Amino acid sequence: MEVYLDNSATTKLDPRVFEAMKPYFDSKYGNASSIHKMGQENNIKMIQCKEEIAKLIGGDPDCIIFTGSATEANNMIIKGVAKKNEDKGKHILISSIEHPSVKKSAEYLKKYGFEIEFIPVNSDGIVELDKIKKMIRSDTILISVMTVNNEIGTIQPIEKIATFAKKNGILFHTDAVQAVPYINFNVKAWGIDFLSLSAHKFNGPLGIGIAYLADKRSITPLIHGGGQEYNVRGGTYNIPGIVGVTEALKLAYTEKEDAIKNVSELTQYLWKRIQDEIDDVSLNGSSEHRTSNNLNILFRRIEGEAILMDLSVKGIYVSTGSACSAENLRASSVLSEIGLKDNDLNSNIRFTLSKFNTKEEIDYTVDSLVDTVKRLRSFTPIK
Ligand SMILES: Cc1ncc(COP(=O)(O)O)c(C=O)c1O
Repeated sequence: MEVYLDNSATTKLDPRVFEAMKPYFDSKYGNASSIHKMGQENNIKMIQCKEEIAKLIGGDPDCIIFTGSATEANNMIIKGVAKKNEDKGKHILISSIEHPSVKKSAEYLKKYGFEIEFIPVNSDGIVELDKIKKMIRSDTILISVMTVNNEIGTIQPIEKIATFAKKNGILFHTDAVQAVPYINFNVKAWGIDFLSLSAHKFNGPLGIGIAYLADKRSITPLIHGGGQEYNVRGGTYNIPGIVGVTEALKLAYTEKEDAIKNVSELTQYLWKRIQDEIDDVSLNGSSEHRTSNNLNILFRRIEGEAILMDLSVKGIYVSTGSACSAENLRASSVLSEIGLKDNDLNSNIRFTLSKFNTKEEIDYTVDSLVDTVKRLRSFTPIK
């Protein structure tokens, strides 16, 4: 049996999304910037996609820019806002648990005289508005706080932070990559200036992201080209991807209730069985303010990497809380930000479920995990 429990890394493409995309690889391949009928039909399709997405997130269609990924959207927004607004100030606040695409974009700006400050989180991994209130200055131009953390699944008080930023004349960005379908957005009503999404995190295709820009004039474009996307992001429109991300977002929200119910029942069942059958475990992050698909668990006295590899051999795919990716084997800064002790930083596993998981898969996972933990603890040198 193969069990995929790494849905915060990427997700299976929904077959219905694949079906919707197929004609745009096959017969409807016109360049959406071309003036002929085949091109213009795709241009109209793209506009319809923006209208559908705008309805789902509560914004205006012409504020939607398609990108190649959320990494690109985050770079576009953080660096683009900085460049455009440098005359107003060079102070930027980002949460201390942002994804590297936000963190490193902000850190890159230090070379150009920007001051980047990290907003701390509490032991649940939540950004508190009171902290932000104390950190803003007259030269703060941007606050960036992710909607949902990718490692521990904590949900941030985005609406409150966005409202506060607006009142104080500061632009606000949220990386909402891990939030679909768990959060119902209303970008306009909440006063969100910039939002980033990535199709492959919600059963859409790889290679397509969304940047929502409430006012396109508030960024300096980074990717120059043929004038696509209102001159904000050059490059031939990825119509199959655009159709795919729209279909995936639509399915995620129209089927949200059933999907979340199934996922949360399975997640709770997984956590209950782990607690009942394995000693010395605890949940990282908030038990209350977290997405129902995420369990980030500390297994004391074992290396998370060892658990991951052992499960992988058994056909179960998870990720560690300590090494976010194969390219970066450093201990997780998110887990140290929420106060995990050094001894525990490398002993964590992130399970992230999806609408495709079943109870049989969860049973197989726990049966295997009990075995794995017992075996690894039997020869661990860590006491
Ligand atoms: C919170 C968050 N932001 C941004 C990204 C980057 O998304 P993409 O894979 O589309 O570049 C990820 C991917 O893991 C993520 O989890």
